[in-house]
Amino acid sequence: MSSPLTIRAAVLEAPGTEPRIEELTLDEPRAGEVLVRMAASGVCHSDLHVRDGEWQRPGPIVMGHEGSGYLEALGPGVDPVASGLSVGRLVALSWLVPCGRCRSCVAGRVWECPVSPSYSHRMPDGTSRTRRAGAGGDVLAYCAIGTMASSQVVPAAAAIPMPDGTPPEVAALIGCCVATGVGAVTKTLPVEPGSSVAVIGLGGVGLSAVMGAALAGAARIVAVDRVEAKLDLAREVGATHGVLASDDPGATAEAIRDATDGGPDVCVEAIGLPSTVELAIACLPAGGAALLVGMTPLGQRASFEVFPFVDGARRIVGSNYGSAVPAVDFPRYAALHLEGRLPVERLVTARIGLDDLEPAFERMRRGEGVRSVIEF
Ligand SMILES: NC(=O)c1ccc[n+]([C@@H]2O[C@H](COP(=O)([O-])OP(=O)(O)OC[C@H]3O[C@@H](n4cnc5c(N)ncnc54)[C@H](O)[C@@H]3O)[C@@H](O)[C@H]2O)c1
Ligand SMILES: [Zn+2]
Ligand SMILES: [Zn+2]
Repeated sequence: MSSPLTIRAAVLEAPGTEPRIEELTLDEPRAGEVLVRMAASGVCHSDLHVRDGEWQRPGPIVMGHEGSGYLEALGPGVDPVASGLSVGRLVALSWLVPCGRCRSCVAGRVWECPVSPSYSHRMPDGTSRTRRAGAGGDVLAYCAIGTMASSQVVPAAAAIPMPDGTPPEVAALIGCCVATGVGAVTKTLPVEPGSSVAVIGLGGVGLSAVMGAALAGAARIVAVDRVEAKLDLAREVGATHGVLASDDPGATAEAIRDATDGGPDVCVEAIGLPSTVELAIACLPAGGAALLVGMTPLGQRASFEVFPFVDGARRIVGSNYGSAVPAVDFPRYAALHLEGRLPVERLVTARIGLDDLEPAFERMRRGEGVRSVIEF
């Protein structure tokens, strides 16, 4: 195998600081790892939570967790036949490699794994493959994949082969927002054909939930955002109604109830604000469920009035990674895209270079556009 590579990557020294584009040394893949030449990396609001210091993460760290790329080399022990991983293949990267031993993993609910090695932002053996040249020291990789880099070494279990013809930017988005949003309404809490769904927050995650609800045959899909252009885009990917969120949550709740005959069977929160979590619960009819997908800054709480909630047999369900089993679900979402049933390409509103990451974060703070995708 060749000597270490030099790569370009977006490195965050510490949460709450501006990422810098740096040249790093990338070591070759060790046992159970693969080398990926990155093709595309989406900018997800979870990256912005870290960038803005709303989630504490260790640093320095290569950012990004929604990516795809081409396999360049397989580390020792990675069997191309058994794994489906062959050099040249397009892979979508999973940001959660299950530990395989905890109670959730053993039960087959790998998306719940609380001790995934991905959360250490190192390879499963506890070491890093990216480092600053000379005595600069190790650089971590976000969720062990750090996709905002020209190449990366990742655990082989994180690399999911994509069907032929999958566009790289679609594969990248399948790795986070599509799996999260589509999976929330089709796997975590499958919406029933003919039912009503509201989705609050129309970023990459929320619009994916809209697409998933349409795929599942929901009769009414109410898209809610404070940015008017998002409502138009939501209609193009399957929403039947749009509600422009106002500063008065009571009025927004009423508009959602009006559009859904008294309240949606399922109300998805895809922003991560206590106020919109409370809105999702407030607009439920008896028997309705709030499906929480958005992630708040750490430490935040939401509240609701207990008596009517219980009296009306309402539910609150949390969804992590759309209950994805990546090796099964990622190729399935790609196949649905290729059949024209999951218009993932509509989520890409900007194609950018690594150097344009900060302006992409700024657009996201304003709610402008959906996914900026870094192309390598
Ligand atoms: N549960 C999971 O596994 C998982 C996975 C990925 C992302 N997430 C989380 O999902 C959330 C959404 O991610 P994204 O990348 O789609 O974000 P995004 O920033 O692209 O989209 C958020 C949308 O919410 C809208 N919005 C903001 N405040 C609003 C308000 N008060 N009322 C109405 N609309 C409002 C914005 O205009 C924007 O359209 C984030 O919190 C992210 O961390 C969760
Ligand atoms: Zn994400
Ligand atoms: Zn586990």
